[in-house]
Amino acid sequence: METYRPRRTCLAVPGSSPRFIAKARGLPADELFLDLEDAVAPAAKDEARSAVVAALNSGGWAGKDVAVRVNDATTRWAYRDVAEVVGGAGRHLAAIVLPKVTDPRQIAWLDLTLGQIERDAGAAVGRIAIDAQIEDAAGLAAVEAIAAASPRLRALVFGPADFMASVGMRPLAAHAQSPGYSGADAFHYPLMRILVAARAHGLAAIDGPYLVIGDLDGLARSASAAAALGYDGKWVVHPGQIATVNEAFTPDQESYERAELVLDACEYYARVEGRGAATLGGEMIDEASRKLALVTAVQGRAAGLRRGRSFQPGS
Ligand code: GLV
Ligand code: MG
Repeated sequence: METYRPRRTCLAVPGSSPRFIAKARGLPADELFLDLEDAVAPAAKDEARSAVVAALNSGGWAGKDVAVRVNDATTRWAYRDVAEVVGGAGRHLAAIVLPKVTDPRQIAWLDLTLGQIERDAGAAVGRIAIDAQIEDAAGLAAVEAIAAASPRLRALVFGPADFMASVGMRPLAAHAQSPGYSGADAFHYPLMRILVAARAHGLAAIDGPYLVIGDLDGLARSASAAAALGYDGKWVVHPGQIATVNEAFTPDQESYERAELVLDACEYYARVEGRGAATLGGEMIDEASRKLALVTAVQGRAAGLRRGRSFQPGS
């Protein structure tokens, strides 16, 4: 928790668009990734790869968490994506995003390949992380093994568009609820399963994109649902989505204040009065409450929230 880094928004930027890449440098997303996969047409893959290497090397990324999404491990492009991007600009990269992961061996392949390139460059082996996208039935079925496949893994990422296609979900657009399905959230099962696998292995859990760019209410609902479930953040596919998603993954002032009070109260009752359980504002608090409060407090501090109230014993 001490090293908590917010991952509320992860902006997807097509690797084939120098204009979008240039603009992305100044946007307030917590992370961004340059895409060589589905946002780049097959005929433009080679050109996009070179453009991404050039963009990474041209600077302006200091303080930004930058990743590149390569093509999936079953494609003919994947090995060159990794070799050229990491070989040519690896020092600017925090992570490689590997899409459509269906088998832990694909993570093992990427881990070994990254290690070879890092050794060749005389760089620290293991610095470049892996974010694995779980976005089809096979990937979801193997998610536990995938989450355990490499110490480089830092996040599991849900891919709603590919997932909907894979299971035959009747769509409107990615992450909008399926028409005709009522009374439940059509994405609860994959989201929860990915979240549990991620947490069981100490990884972040990131929700995928909401593709109806003009529908900020739908985006806010989708982001708030993922945040409430426990997700760390969500992909955004347009600069206009960043503020809504940052807000959804930042605790509100009241919850933040309460979390700080719970932390102070737990500390006071344990240290001064030697009690594990106590009450605060009529609610029982104990060690589990402290852990819950810590999550909210750390997120609020990282977002720059400030507390206005201090703890009074007996309150
Ligand atoms: C993202 O890659 C998705 O398939 O939704
Ligand atoms: Mg996808």
